[in-house]
Amino acid sequence: MTRSITNGSSVGIDAIAVHVPRLYMDLCGEWANVRASELGEATVEGLVGKVRKGVGVEQMAIPDAHEDSATLAAMAAVKVIEQAGIDPRDVGSIAVGTETTVDQSKSIAAYVLGMLERRFNVELREAGAPQFQFACIGATYALEAAVNSFRAGEATKPYALVIATDISKYPLRTSGEYTQGAGAVAMLVSKNPRLVALDARVLATITRDERDFFRPNGLSTAVVDGKYSIDVYLDCIAEAARLYVRRAREALELENAGIDDIVDDFLFHIPFPRMAEYAALRVLGEAWRADDSRRAALAATTPLVADPESGGANRRAFEKQLAQDPAFARFFKDRIGPSLSLSRRIGNIYSGSMYLGLASLLEHAEDRAKLRGRRVGFFSYGSGASARVFSGVFVDPESYTPHVRALLAPADEGGGRIPLELAQYERLHGGPAAGDVPLSLVQPAASTVRPRNEFALVRIGTESSPSRTDVGYRYYDWVAG
Ligand code: HMG
Repeated sequence: MTRSITNGSSVGIDAIAVHVPRLYMDLCGEWANVRASELGEATVEGLVGKVRKGVGVEQMAIPDAHEDSATLAAMAAVKVIEQAGIDPRDVGSIAVGTETTVDQSKSIAAYVLGMLERRFNVELREAGAPQFQFACIGATYALEAAVNSFRAGEATKPYALVIATDISKYPLRTSGEYTQGAGAVAMLVSKNPRLVALDARVLATITRDERDFFRPNGLSTAVVDGKYSIDVYLDCIAEAARLYVRRAREALELENAGIDDIVDDFLFHIPFPRMAEYAALRVLGEAWRADDSRRAALAATTPLVADPESGGANRRAFEKQLAQDPAFARFFKDRIGPSLSLSRRIGNIYSGSMYLGLASLLEHAEDRAKLRGRRVGFFSYGSGASARVFSGVFVDPESYTPHVRALLAPADEGGGRIPLELAQYERLHGGPAAGDVPLSLVQPAASTVRPRNEFALVRIGTESSPSRTDVGYRYYDWVAG
């Protein structure tokens, strides 16, 4: 059984919970029928094939008018606290990673703190509540800060709460549209964690000043150079993976070990599931090309492995060939595949995507108990651009409470998921009708489905007087079912 690399004490993820909106858009029905011609596809089947197989998604979670990054975060936080069975007063800090914030100044974590206080009828005023922003990698930086506070002996309470929350939105009728999604992942960080003990001294970071994807102030949809964003992701992840391997070899005293000797299960940032395949081909392709015995084993089925240009001009061709190799296909199915299942039905949730992959692995592993003692690699990426590779070892995977698959089940199978019609989805995508008023001051539109047993954005403040000013302030309440 593998042991985690520690700096004296074991710190990591004690529990994890996911929340996604109950509304979703199916990408294989009405949406595809209408969009095929709008997106210039020759046939509806062509678009469905591209979205399902080429990109890897089937459905996207869509927030209702009363949901935003703060309500999603608070819902995930309630779930993780309840599932872990802890007293919320044992949480010493709440950190949120998001790139779709609800206010230009106030931290979403402070809003979440208030919602938790009201929900659990407790006082959390001694907790820190910062927000971390760096595209999809913000939550990873938040996680590192929480972990380091325990490692440094600065944590005053047994748990820190780290929440990744986002709503991914691109303009309609663009190729970004089918890579949207929404959701939040909440994690409890602690000493002697029940779920994953994170390795110390192996974290590898690469950061470059890039224009691959961004969202200028005032825009609700992201600006993206799609193909370029893929290239930047792959370059940064591959470089961070090389650095990680150097550090892990040293920490584990495993000279010459490859990434797949060190890491058992791979969690990539998942803007869409195919991206994890591109990343695996890049990271493993590099490792396998550099290893004599692997190269020999691949020679018959992936002849380009011997091409001196397979890391340069012929890299794409080599990776396409490797994708068809039975050894790679088996590796991908066993050691990466289970982490992608939830994303197919939820879409990109930006900062939470890789952590949704962790929940997916826990829910879709053939035998969850067998994850115990396996090293899990985290390949985190945020546009703009930063990649971080780190790892941990599963402690007691059975401490995880499966809940996401059930959440995604249709209502007649006991789940609560509700499909949207195209017109409903497009109305929600448009957001509140702005007119001359800045969007952040517009009252939330009528919900598509009335909120029940959830936090909801109930109104936006309108007062501006000497005694009270709350113009644009967001009010959240628990709405019982
Ligand atoms: P696209 O126009 O759909 O791309 O845009 P495509 O035409 O290259 O097609 C994609 C794949 O579908 C190709 O596969 C096609 O062959 C295949 P490949 O050749 O690569 O193996 N295909 C088909 N397969 C089966 N049946 C068919 C069929 N037709 C075509 N009928 C793109 C895709 C991802 C560029 C677009 O959706 C986009 O711009 N999305 C948003 C940007 C994005 O997600 N970038 C990812 C990297 S950056 C990142 O991850 C950070 C991010 O999460 C933000 C953050 O950090 O905050 C985005």
